[in-house]
Amino acid sequence: ETDPAKIKLGTAEAPGTRVRVLGRVHHLRSQKDVIFVTLKDGYGHMQCVFTGRLIKTYAAMTLTLETSLAIHGELRSLPPKAHAPLDRELHADFFSVVGTAVGDKEAITNKVQEGGDPQTLLDNRHLVLRGDNASSVMKVRAAVTRAFRQTYVETRLTEVTPPAMVQTQVEGGATLFEFNYYGEKAYLTQSSQLYLETCLASMGDVFCICPSFRAEKSLTRRHLSEYTHIEAELDFIVFDDLLDHLENVICRVIDITLADPVIASYVKELNPDFTPPARPFRRMKYADAIEWLKENDIPNEEGQPHAFGDDIAEAAERRMTDILDVPIFLTHFPVEIKAFYMKKDDSDKRVTESVDVLMPGVGEIVGGSMRMDDYEELMAAYKREGIDPAPYYWYTDQRRYGTSPHGGYGLGLERFLAWMCGRFTVRECALYPRFAYRCTP
Ligand code: 4AD
Ligand code: MG
Repeated sequence: ETDPAKIKLGTAEAPGTRVRVLGRVHHLRSQKDVIFVTLKDGYGHMQCVFTGRLIKTYAAMTLTLETSLAIHGELRSLPPKAHAPLDRELHADFFSVVGTAVGDKEAITNKVQEGGDPQTLLDNRHLVLRGDNASSVMKVRAAVTRAFRQTYVETRLTEVTPPAMVQTQVEGGATLFEFNYYGEKAYLTQSSQLYLETCLASMGDVFCICPSFRAEKSLTRRHLSEYTHIEAELDFIVFDDLLDHLENVICRVIDITLADPVIASYVKELNPDFTPPARPFRRMKYADAIEWLKENDIPNEEGQPHAFGDDIAEAAERRMTDILDVPIFLTHFPVEIKAFYMKKDDSDKRVTESVDVLMPGVGEIVGGSMRMDDYEELMAAYKREGIDPAPYYWYTDQRRYGTSPHGGYGLGLERFLAWMCGRFTVRECALYPRFAYRCTP
C-alpha cells in the first residue's frame, strides 16, 4: 500500500479521506481504551484518536509531549461543539515515532506555560516558543510586519536597508553599543533615520524594517537592547502631514492584519478586549500634557509636580495614557529634551515639531519629527549638543545639496505588538529577546 497524501494540519480535507499527518504531540490524554493525541505542526492542531491494537504498542504507552509522529488515518467529522474549534478528527490506523522527546510531561508543560518562573521561561525560550501563546504572538508579528510592508507599498514608499554598523549616534551617546571595527571605533545603529534622509532626493519617500540597538541598562517592561525598528521618512511635507500619515498607517496596518481570520483569532485569544482605535487620534501638546499631569497629581521622576521642560518619564506617561485610554499624538516637545536634528516650531522656538504616539498599556510606540533642514541651524544644533560635526558630513550635506522640508518617525515593532496583543512586556514580542544582561538563548 502506498502512503496516503501528506497534509498540513488545519487544511480542509473532506471527512472520509485517508491522510498522513506529521507533527508533534501537543496534548495527550490516555483513557482505558483510547488515547487522544492533539498533534500540532505549526499550521494547525488536530485531534488524533488511537484505539485497538495501536494503544497496546510500546510506542503508544510511552508517548511524551513533543514527540514527533507520523500518523495515518481517516478524517471523521465531529458534531459541532461550542468550545471545540476543531470540526474533524483523525482516526488513526497506523503511526510511527519520527523523533522521541525526552523528559516527563510535567517538566515541559511547566516550561512552556505562562505564569512560570520568569528566569526559567527566559532560559527556555526555545521551548516556550512551542506553546500556543508564544507562537501566536510570533504569527501576529509576521502578519503585522507584512501589513506594514503592504501599507508602505500602497502609499509608494521604497524599502531600503541601511547599515547596522555605523560611526554616528542618533539618539544620544548614553545608549550606544560600541565595538572595534578594524581598529576604528564603531557602533551598532540606534536608528536608521539619518540614512533614510539621504535617500529622499533620488528615491522619494522611503522606509526600512531593521534592527536597532540600545544599551539600555535599566530593566523595564518596554526596553530591549535589540528591537525591530520600523522607520519611514517623507519628503516635502509639513508637520500635520506627518501626523495624518501616522494615523493612516497605524489604522491601515490594523485593518490588514485583522482581515486575516486566522490572525484575527490569535489577536482575539491573546487580547480579547482589542478594538481598532477610533479616528481621529487625540492630539495633545506637550505643554498641555504637563498641565494635565499637574492637575492629576502625577509627579515627575523627582517626586515633584511636573513643570515645563521636564521629561515625561515612562511611569507618568503610561499612567496618563491608561487613564485617557485612547491613542495619543503627544506633540511639540521642548528643544532641550529632544534630539539634535528636530526642527523647531516657527511659532514657538522653545519647542520642536515632534510627536510621540502613545498607546494604552504601553505608552510610547512611535517617536518622530520634522527635521532641521537649514544648514546653519543644524551646525548650531551639533554645537549645542556637543556633537563633533565631522563624522556627520554626509548627513549635513543633505542641507547643502537641495534641502527640503521633510520628516519621519520610528516605530518599535515589539511595542506595537505588546499593545495589540495585550502583552505585559515587549520581551514576549521578540523571538529571542535581548535586554540588559541577557543574550541567551
Ligand atoms: O523615540 P526613538 O528613540 O526615535 C528614534 O530613534 C528616531 N530616530 C526614529 C525616527 O525618527 N526615524 O525610537 C523610536 C521608537 C520608540 O518610540 C520605541 O517604540 C522604539 O523605537 N524604541 C524601543 N523599543 C524597544 N526597546 C528599546 N530600547 C527602544 N528604544 C526605542
Ligand atoms: Mg522616543
